[in-house]
Amino acid sequence: MCGIVGYIGDNKAENILIDGLAKLEYRGYDSAGIAVLRDSKLVIRKYKGRLSVLEEKLNKENLSSNVGIGHTRWATHGEPSDANSHPHANGNDTIAVVHNGIIENFMELREQLEEEGYKFKSETDTEVISHLIDYYYKGDILEAVRRAIKRLEGAYAIAVTSKDEPDKLIAVRKDSPLIIGIGNNENFIASDIPAILKYTRNVYILDDGEMAVIKKNEIELMNIEGDKIDKEVFNVTWDVESAEKGGYDHFMIKEIYEQPKALKETLSPRINDKKEINLDGINLTKEEIEKFSRVYIIACGTAYHAGLLGKSLIQKYVKIPVITDVASEFRYSDPFIDENTLMIVVSQSGETADTLAALRLAKENKARVMAVTNVVGSTISREADDVIYTWAGPEIAVASTKAYTTQMLSFGLIALDMAIKKGTLSKAEADKVIDELISASDKVKSILEDVKLTEEAAEEIYNKENVFFIGRGIDYDVAREGSLKLKEISYIHSEAIQAGELKHGTLALIEKGTPVIALATQDKLYDKMLSNMKEVKARGAHVIAVAKKGNKEVEKSADKVIYIPDVLDELASILSVIPLQLLSYYVAVKRGCDVDKPRNLAKSVTVE
Ligand code: M6R
Repeated sequence: MCGIVGYIGDNKAENILIDGLAKLEYRGYDSAGIAVLRDSKLVIRKYKGRLSVLEEKLNKENLSSNVGIGHTRWATHGEPSDANSHPHANGNDTIAVVHNGIIENFMELREQLEEEGYKFKSETDTEVISHLIDYYYKGDILEAVRRAIKRLEGAYAIAVTSKDEPDKLIAVRKDSPLIIGIGNNENFIASDIPAILKYTRNVYILDDGEMAVIKKNEIELMNIEGDKIDKEVFNVTWDVESAEKGGYDHFMIKEIYEQPKALKETLSPRINDKKEINLDGINLTKEEIEKFSRVYIIACGTAYHAGLLGKSLIQKYVKIPVITDVASEFRYSDPFIDENTLMIVVSQSGETADTLAALRLAKENKARVMAVTNVVGSTISREADDVIYTWAGPEIAVASTKAYTTQMLSFGLIALDMAIKKGTLSKAEADKVIDELISASDKVKSILEDVKLTEEAAEEIYNKENVFFIGRGIDYDVAREGSLKLKEISYIHSEAIQAGELKHGTLALIEKGTPVIALATQDKLYDKMLSNMKEVKARGAHVIAVAKKGNKEVEKSADKVIYIPDVLDELASILSVIPLQLLSYYVAVKRGCDVDKPRNLAKSVTVE
């Protein structure tokens, strides 16, 4: 959610911190701040608003420091304000802290510290950390941090700087990602790789309960008891350009156009010339698959929508009952988890708190856990038993696009792999599906080559207050994703309805000019869908349909039809979502919205 950067070396810390925070701004963006050491003093600058506010103020002074920490915030405790922004300091500004996550027992700690005479300047949970460290500080910042974190309950990634020990930064991680970048005569801390990729590709990924003392020429890793640990250096293979806009106006549109490549990269390493599937990282045997009595697919937001397709494909090909649920609801629904359960968690970031909690619940109850994720080394990827990576490259825009299509494609691979092993699909049937998965990249590309009708559709709806998305079967799942995308970035109210449910209530909202986006890609539901479109059309709706090429009949029930290439019914979502992604993008641009950083949202939701 929030972003952390730390630097120690010979270069200008404030420039490196701002540069790194700019790469993390997508994680949270209602305020930003830095604390740097200069002339034996801790200088803290922090402001409500975008990073540019901080940057402008810093441009007016010359801080010239070589060590510091920075933060970009997405408010949880306390409104966005200068006071609530990080870093937070102790009373005499000798220790500063930035923090991602939530300290659950902060009220109790705050009361105790107040009784000790500590004065608080903010409403945040983070401020208790800086005062607690101060409380334990007896000339050794590492020891003080170690003692302080033992008192904390909740999730945290923390970076600490101290005026009295200017040669080091301290970093600690529990349930919120943190990495240490290894440089040459300089080292870094970051909550996410893009922040420091310009400076180094070699990083240590801290695990829960681990901490680091970072000096200019040395990094010491240890557990919170202070025992030294060894870790492998993780080498980042993707390049800086993948995290830049590359000539596009926004990350979102760049990422939409990256989908043909992302689909190819997700698929090609897993299918050989003989059309055999080899899922690196997934080690399920025939016997294990036969043992599963149920599958849970658990995720949030767009990843949840990908999980809905996973359900359809696994039920259809593998013949196992599947429940797809949103992670924030799942663990409170008394789920049946045992050693015969397969849980598949889906998460682009691999850090979503609710999804991670569901994974841990499944593991406690002896289920097998598989992860579909985009981020190598993420917490979810490390805690799952089996992992399939979507090789989509970094997704920066808050609105998820290429992660979604590659997650759906991954479900195609997972379902096929399980079905072939279990013997529920013949080779000929499997080959047909594999051909479809292989052609997905080119078909998506062809949709992206001609976007005129979608741009026109955006023109028709961008000034409306309500938009409805309707569909049946997996078209309804895509309708939900289209609706989420539109509301998320354009702030237009929208709702997705199962087309057959319209007449049980929602039809009452349809009046002259109401935009209805109708998904009509399912052959077996086509006629029924046409009737539902007629129902809304008869009430004056402005109907924009998405249908397979050749299904001309749909034109009689719609004002505009956006065609997608012919495709197997069960995989149509990978194509039909593309016009919906584009539609929401064009609408948001026309409304002047901040497409990549929609209000109130963050890319990675690491709090429950
Ligand atoms: O990183 P995750 O895939 O776990 O994130 C899940 C959701 O927060 C995410 O898909 C969210 O719904 C997107 N912003 C939607 O575009």
